[in-house]
Amino acid sequence: MNQDYIIPNEWSIIEEGFNKTHVTASESIFSIGNGAMGQRANFEEKYSGETFQGSYIGGIYYPDKTRVGWWKNGYPEYFAKVLNAPNWIGIHVNINGIPLDLNTCEVYEFERELNMKEGVLTRSFIAELSNGNQLKVFATRFLSLNFNEVGAIKYSVTPTNFSGEIEFIPYIDAGIVNEDSNYDESFWDILQIEEQKNEAYILSKTYKTEFHVCTGMKVEFALNDFEITLDKETEKTEKSIAFKYKTKVEKGDTFSIYKYGGYTQSMNHSKEELMFSLEKMLQKVAIIGFDDLLQKQKEAWAKIWETADITIEGDIKAQQAIRFNIFQLNQTYLGEDSRLNIGPKGFTGEKYGGSTYWDTEAYCIPFYMSTKDKHVAKNLLLYRYNQLDKAIENAGKLGFNSGAALYPMVTMNGEECHNEWEITFEEIHRNGAMIYAIYNYVNYTGDYSYIPEYGMEVMIAISRFWHQRSTFSKAKEQYVILGVTGPNEYENNVNNNYYTNYLAKWCIEYTLENFHIIKEKYGDDFERIMEKTNLEELELKQWKEVADKMYFPYDDDEEVFLQQDGFLDKELIPVSELPKSERPINQKWSWDRILRSPYIKQADVLQGIYFFENEFDKNTIKRHFDFYEPLTVHESSLSPCVHSILASKIGMNDKAYEMYLRTARLDLDDYNHEVHEGLHITSMAGTWLSIVQGFGGMRNFNDELTFTPQIPKEWKSYSFKIEYRGATLKVYKDHKGCKFTNESDTSLDIIVNDEKVIVKPDQLVEM
Ligand code: BGC
Repeated sequence: MNQDYIIPNEWSIIEEGFNKTHVTASESIFSIGNGAMGQRANFEEKYSGETFQGSYIGGIYYPDKTRVGWWKNGYPEYFAKVLNAPNWIGIHVNINGIPLDLNTCEVYEFERELNMKEGVLTRSFIAELSNGNQLKVFATRFLSLNFNEVGAIKYSVTPTNFSGEIEFIPYIDAGIVNEDSNYDESFWDILQIEEQKNEAYILSKTYKTEFHVCTGMKVEFALNDFEITLDKETEKTEKSIAFKYKTKVEKGDTFSIYKYGGYTQSMNHSKEELMFSLEKMLQKVAIIGFDDLLQKQKEAWAKIWETADITIEGDIKAQQAIRFNIFQLNQTYLGEDSRLNIGPKGFTGEKYGGSTYWDTEAYCIPFYMSTKDKHVAKNLLLYRYNQLDKAIENAGKLGFNSGAALYPMVTMNGEECHNEWEITFEEIHRNGAMIYAIYNYVNYTGDYSYIPEYGMEVMIAISRFWHQRSTFSKAKEQYVILGVTGPNEYENNVNNNYYTNYLAKWCIEYTLENFHIIKEKYGDDFERIMEKTNLEELELKQWKEVADKMYFPYDDDEEVFLQQDGFLDKELIPVSELPKSERPINQKWSWDRILRSPYIKQADVLQGIYFFENEFDKNTIKRHFDFYEPLTVHESSLSPCVHSILASKIGMNDKAYEMYLRTARLDLDDYNHEVHEGLHITSMAGTWLSIVQGFGGMRNFNDELTFTPQIPKEWKSYSFKIEYRGATLKVYKDHKGCKFTNESDTSLDIIVNDEKVIVKPDQLVEM
């Protein structure tokens, strides 16, 4: 059973009624972020029930010592983890001496709402304490997009059946830990705790990585919306600081605390100035005031939605879901800082270490590229460019040489930090995604300069890797790639994974093609690149030979490329014949059984066909889809979207819609029973792709932007917008036809269902 307690709503995620078993799931789902930091939707007040506390700062990580049973040469020593950062949101509340704790009191009229249009989280409820005192609570919280080092909380309490004493205890707690710490270590060293009037600051640094972070809070009070001042008592421990404020409140009066808080950190400020900078920032936002700050927040989100929104008419759950996906992607990454990236769980949990995976290049870039200015996608590419030296070092550790690069499967700073051999050493297809992303970017934006300026160096290093990683098989008289794991991680150490071999060949060919263009047209860059990379003409010949003679496993009877050598030796029983009780197989079966089975975790051969769809005809795509999809268990969140897009392409509309639903509401309905660990942020980009590339049929090959819009029968209409080479195009589709509106002053040539169309500035074209 999937969960279904989230109330359908077009613009909001809503939970009604308090259910303790939903707390950790809701903490993930209602997470808030502003691209620079984020936090799970933990309660401000004390909660003694089961909770997963999390607050994260972009770029701040800890290299946790690797834990493996049997050490193998080449293993990375550390797994870099996103750090649970000091908690600044906490406000304990005591009513006539009794702590407010939803785990121990009666809770009525509980409602939580994440307003995605405005980027605001609110919560309201009535609590009845053990002594019969009843109070109404209303809490509003947001992380500012305008001032991305801070957030604000307004927490209001109204006694409804008593007059008495209320105590607010706002605090900062730096004594926090990561749940996934390998050796139960604390990752933070507390350096200094300071207080002034109603402000407190804790300066801390991470062990090993020495990131310095200042966490601060500033509080103000109001009685029935009139500002009041209160005296405080301070309680300090070695790792925390709390202020106690007491006041008498009459029945019906509303007593509010405003808490401004956040972080400054050493990636953005000098260590010496962290506290001072945060003081200045908190004072500034307090002067702006909660209401105006909130107004600015609404305006900033409105600007994001202007280009990013997708509307769906006739299916409120689908509408809610797509906005949720778009909202969370924007909460995770806004693209202004090329040192940051998109962790598969964003700022919503610890799993996957908050690190960067191939997910960014393979899934996320199109979303950011189409809904934001092109510098955002460029920043994502530069992230990898800036880590090229580490990727070369990384390949060196595994025995490759002469400037060959292997980008890590998982990273925070460019070093590999995944420690399962079958992934670290073998899941090398990720290297291909780096070049694919460059190709995708240049194709879409037309910004060719990226290749001579940055991309070529990355491409050369990766081509060197593919050349060295391939082996000439005398028996086959072709090049083979041995001992790999494809995107389908349910097969390890296989030979000639079709997807990997295809990418290797393609990467080399694309590198060579661009090498010649740069040589001819970008003389200065060419010289710089040649000097920097020590590239020799002989290497080009060797690469070409590998690409020309790459081997691909193929079966003549089935007329399909095989996922790897020997795939047909498996017992090919479709997933539909597996009893439900045996699924998901990654929770029910031994790894050994999974490896011997034919079951596919996520798109593998089909991933390649999706990337390079223009090189396959429709029948070939359909044959491969019909062969592989029935064996696919979709146990990676990245799986359904690729299948949805391909199913749309080949006219399997019901399948496309079924797959779409699985990706769109994966977290809201908790399909994989793991939402409490955090959200699947990177696959949310896949949901966006399923609409734009899937139903909308948008493609961009050879400088042509094409559409083949279709609509699921369950919907009345849908629309999306894209930014494309200076133009903003709105695409609308219903059951009668489609409309294209150019909302910019740049004319745009597109192809719709094979027909050339010019959409002039401010023009609406109906078809
Ligand atoms: C998938 C990988 C993906 C990772 C992070 C895994 O389950 O198999 O392809 O990179 O999750 O999203």
